[in-house]
Order: sequence, then structure tokens, then C-alpha cells
Amino acid sequence: MARPVGSITRGTTGHNRLRRADRWIAAVHGRLLRATARPLVVDLGYGASHVTTLELFTRLRRVAPDVEVVGIEIDPARVAAAKPYEREGLSFALGGFELPVARPPVLVRAFNVLRQYGEAEAWRYWRALLERLAPGGVLVEGTCSEVGHRAVWVGLDASGPRTLTFSARFDAFERPSDLADRLPKTLIHRNVPGERIHAFLRDWDHAWAVSAPYSSHGARQRWIAAARTLAATWPIPCHPPLGGRARWRLGELTVPWPAVAPDVRDA
Ligand SMILES: C[S@@+](CC[C@H](N)C(=O)[O-])C[C@H]1O[C@@H](n2cnc3c(N)ncnc32)[C@H](O)[C@@H]1O
Repeated sequence: MARPVGSITRGTTGHNRLRRADRWIAAVHGRLLRATARPLVVDLGYGASHVTTLELFTRLRRVAPDVEVVGIEIDPARVAAAKPYEREGLSFALGGFELPVARPPVLVRAFNVLRQYGEAEAWRYWRALLERLAPGGVLVEGTCSEVGHRAVWVGLDASGPRTLTFSARFDAFERPSDLADRLPKTLIHRNVPGERIHAFLRDWDHAWAVSAPYSSHGARQRWIAAARTLAATWPIPCHPPLGGRARWRLGELTVPWPAVAPDVRDA
């Protein structure tokens, strides 16, 4: 077997750390998984424990009973540690960005993996992963805080990045721009004046500030009000599956990628 593409990095992970992203994947891509024959999902870089891959498997089986999940790790010791937890539909394998799986996956989740690479590499590995997808497949690539209370992820398809989603527990931030520390590698260095992502976070903070009166009904109502305010000037999806009250009430907000994309790619 050729050497896996990539490098071993820190294996930090934990129970329920990726719950917010899994919930989004099930809601937004459940239909895709159900419409695919023998849908294969890859969890790339699952870390020091198999636990987030098992959680993804359990959550996706609820919306797509035929789904198969393969956890891929570049560290052989982490693969050996996960193997005892294999079961029907869930397996673990050694590999990297080349995705050594039997058939093209319809969905790849990669969380807290690319943040440990350089910005130019992140763009390059996005492309490499997109080339490995089944027709119509998607990549969900993101970053979250240690326990998952703040998370940001990008949804991509064969054409490239399509959406950017923010998700936070209501007690895990003071203002929406606090989530900037979880931006994906391809954006985090672009959060400076003159860049769209910076303007977006500035306007979201403003929408949050003017929605302060809603706090008397709780932070959830304030988040929903801020999303509505922001949608007046930014192309925020306001209907399911990506937007609207049902998503916003979870402490989630999705924006189309072109609205926040950097002007120049380093790759
Ligand atoms: C910080 S952990 C993230 C674990 C889990 N995804 C989470 O978010 O909780 C990152 C893991 O990705 C693995 N990794 C890094 N590059 C990789 C690659 N190219 N292919 C597979 N695994 C990789 C590292 O070895 C490490 O175990």
C-alpha cells in the first residue's frame, strides 16, 4: 500500500464534539444519503478515539438505514485502537487524503483535520477530496472548539465550496464574531478589513447588538431576530433545509460561500 497522503497530527476528540455538524448533515443531506444506493460515508481523521465516527454512524443510520461509514485515520495506532469497535456498516481503515475506500463516498466529513495544515494545502486537499467523491457527493469540512460548543464548517460539492455554517451553544459566545476562531483554514487568515468574511462578521455583530431587546425572551429569540436582520442585507437562506427558524433556533446560521469567499486563492 502506498504511503497515506498527509501527516499525523494531534488526535484530540471527544464524545458529542461533532453533534452540531452531524445534526446539520442529517437534516441537509439525509435525502442525498437515502437517494443513493449503498451510500458510503467517510469520516476522515477521526482522532485518538473512534467515538465521533460511531456517533456519526448512529445518527446517519436514523435518517438513512443503509448507510455505511468508514473512519479513516493516518495514524496506524489510532486505527488499531478503533478496530475492536467495528460492526456491520461501520469500519476503520488506515489512510489519508487519497481516501482508500472500495467505492467513491457520497459524503466525506473531515473535522479538525485541515486546520492543522497550511492555507494553501487546505485549498489543495479540498480539491483532492472533491475529486474522490461519488457523482453528486459532498464534503463537509470544519473546525470546532474542544467540546464542540462553537463550530464552523464548509459544505462543498464537485463545483467547490457552496456554504459556510456557524453553530454555537447560546452560552458559548458573547457576540457572533467570537466564532471567528473556528473558521476553516481557507478563511481564518482572511478575517481582516477589506475581506467579505470580515464584513459579514461585523454586520452580524451589529445585527446581534440591535437584537438585544429580544434577550428578555432568551438568547435563542435574539439569535433568530439577528438572523432576520442580517438577511435584509446578506443572502442568508431563510427556508429549510439551510435556513429559517427551524435551523436558527438551534444556534445555527448558514451563508452561501460566495458571499464570504476570499477574493484570491493562495492555492
Ligand atoms: C484533532 S483530530 C480530530 C478528531 C475528530 N475528527 C474530531 O474532530 O474530534 C485530527 C486527526 O486527523 C488525523 N489526520 C490528519 N491528517 C490526516 C489525513 N490526511 N488523513 C487522515 N487522518 C488525518 C490526525 O492524525 C488526527 O488524529
